[in-house]
Amino acid sequence: MQYIIDSANLAEIEKAFEYLPMAGVTTNPTIIAKEKRDFFHILREIRAIIGEEPCLHAQVIGRTADEMIADALRIRDAIPGNTFVKVPVTREGYKAMKELKKREVLLTATAIFTPMEALLAAECGADYAAPYVNRIDNIGGDGIEVVRQICELYEIHQMSTYCLGASFKNARQVQEIALAGCPAATLPPDILWKVAGHPLTEEGVDGFIRDWESVYGKGVKVTDLPETKGPETKGKKKASARK
Ligand code: E4P
Repeated sequence: MQYIIDSANLAEIEKAFEYLPMAGVTTNPTIIAKEKRDFFHILREIRAIIGEEPCLHAQVIGRTADEMIADALRIRDAIPGNTFVKVPVTREGYKAMKELKKREVLLTATAIFTPMEALLAAECGADYAAPYVNRIDNIGGDGIEVVRQICELYEIHQMSTYCLGASFKNARQVQEIALAGCPAATLPPDILWKVAGHPLTEEGVDGFIRDWESVYGKGVKVTDLPETKGPETKGKKKASARK
């Protein structure tokens, strides 16, 4: 599965890319607005951190197809590398995506709430389609089931679009969409680190180090030990004492 970070915070992005196998970064207007900085500066700085290959997704603001197309071309031209323009699946959005595809703009259809919106987005040429798992759950729907059905529809209709699970509020939702075969997920930093860790993992490692240090000394690492060769002296002595 592709792990993507849903954030425009440079420190969070840097940390995620340092430690985890990240495929890219998604943003949306809310996420960008949180940083209270120039839109293009933020995107260029994210690109500089992650390099040209990982995907970077940035959303249009316009409401009409013409405005969305203009926004999309500005984003595509301003941000180098593997940059995807996010277009919401409104009527105007479908129209914009069909036109943008002809102009070979990489597209992420966003704000998806039903499997059919995702199928139509794929047929308009979207490369990724982002269903909002937690927002679907919040209105009494089943976000995981929507993701599962999107993946099934894409297989039945042989669409090459990637379902990109989005809008998560807990690690369980991420595990469920992974089990449903979803090929990509975009996670806010707090959920990303919850998925990547467990308190008992940390506790287990603390225990191992405590036990080791009780014999070999505080702060002693494997690399601090002399490299002994041949059979262990202590064992040999005992064996000869028995003779
Ligand atoms: C990603 O494409 C979406 O913008 C994002 O995941 C929405 O998440 P939210 O429902 O937590 O705002």
